[in-house]
Amino acid sequence: MTTRRNTLGVFFFMTLLGFGLTSKYGPCKVKCRSLGLRRCSKICRIETCDTIDMTCWKTCSASINGPDAADHLRRCIQQCKVGKTCEAACNKTGFTRILKLKGYQEGPVFTKDGQFYTVLPWIGEIHRVDLENKQSSVLVIPSVDGFKGLPVGLQNDPEKNIWLADGRLGLLKMKQDGSFNQVATKDNKNEPMQGCNDLIFDYHGNLWITAPFGPIAPNNLTESRTVPFGSVYCYNTTTNEIIKVATGFLYPNGIAVQHDSNGTPKKLVFGSSFNISAPLWSFDIVGPCQIENKQVWGNLPANHVIDGIDFDENGNLLVTEYSSGILYVFDSNGGAPTCQLKMPMGHSTNIEFRPNSNEFYITGDALLKLQWKYNGMKKYWEIA
Ligand SMILES: *[C@@H]1O[C@H](CO)[C@@H](O)[C@H](O)[C@H]1NC(C)=O
Ligand SMILES: *[C@@H]1O[C@H](CO)[C@@H](O)[C@H](O)[C@H]1NC(C)=O
Ligand SMILES: *[C@@H]1O[C@H](CO)[C@@H](O)[C@H](O)[C@H]1NC(C)=O
Ligand SMILES: *[C@@H]1O[C@H](CO)[C@@H](O)[C@H](O)[C@H]1NC(C)=O
Repeated sequence: MTTRRNTLGVFFFMTLLGFGLTSKYGPCKVKCRSLGLRRCSKICRIETCDTIDMTCWKTCSASINGPDAADHLRRCIQQCKVGKTCEAACNKTGFTRILKLKGYQEGPVFTKDGQFYTVLPWIGEIHRVDLENKQSSVLVIPSVDGFKGLPVGLQNDPEKNIWLADGRLGLLKMKQDGSFNQVATKDNKNEPMQGCNDLIFDYHGNLWITAPFGPIAPNNLTESRTVPFGSVYCYNTTTNEIIKVATGFLYPNGIAVQHDSNGTPKKLVFGSSFNISAPLWSFDIVGPCQIENKQVWGNLPANHVIDGIDFDENGNLLVTEYSSGILYVFDSNGGAPTCQLKMPMGHSTNIEFRPNSNEFYITGDALLKLQWKYNGMKKYWEIA
């Protein structure tokens, strides 16, 4: 999750007129019309999911005039297209819009019994979403001792419990009837638990959690946006220990685990929002809740805000960028993104693959469905 108060630059912009139909670049249409041209929709057409650099567009289109204006507009669109667009079902039937809610959604998760949940962080609600009927209902608004939660990330375990990473309440274990308990207020060193953001089970059942917030309620909410006090926890569900395995990061956010071909957890990867070089950090996993060898695994372009991250079964990492609604894709070695997809939404927060499927759901200021080239990486509950 990243918050509404995001101030980092938004460099990209694209408009889809008529949801999921042909795509036109909005700023181009405005310019085209102001020049008194006709057939602006055609002139300003772009491929769905292509990204146009706004700054480039402004510069390129500023002086357009005269008889060649239409050609110039077309040329500017070509010239200002950035990144390689990933192969995906980016066409008029490719996208399905499930929901558009007030505020943004986050933390999408499928459970073992086929339910689908999301959270609305700033409203504090956990929602059960009926994907077929495109309806959403509140499961619970968690609070502890009168302090309302800031629910952000969800995961499911083999017993169908829902685990919630919460910015105000830490880690909650929840049943699907909405009842829950707060797992801990202190870590194993007796230090106050920090507020959490996202979480993932590795295939050995250890739960890895990012914690970009300061101490949980009753403390006031603080965030590691400018001071790097963000941490990563590992929760051992057998010994009930919450272990702070790393700290000193700016806003640790989405988190994922790479496994070797035997299903042994190999690498922990997580994003750092609000670091201008937009790094994904990695550690080698060397034992249960044990990591070493901190490295920069990859970077998004500067000033981008990494939010959710998820592997597909081919080892590609899909990364949502909050401020532009662009999905970036890395291969299994990290480095720089290999391709990108501009989603027809302003902000994107997280993705979740339908189990055994290449269909993924992306949250943000809407909930959309799209098909990817590969299936998602299996979750712990699918292999346990
Ligand atoms: C659009 O995407 C859908 C879903 O993947 C696919 O079935 C269909 O063939 C595509 N249509 C076109 C025109 O490419
Ligand atoms: C928990 O800790 C024990 C003892 O170190 C270890 O054997 C186990 O693999 C850890 N993880 C889980 C999920 O039980
Ligand atoms: C939280 O913030 C309020 C308003 O700024 C302040 O009055 C209160 O003392 C703070 N509480 C704690 C526990 O820091
Ligand atoms: C930001 O990320 C870079 C790696 O891309 C790292 O070297 C730097 O220390 C990070 N800054 C902070 C304040 O964490």
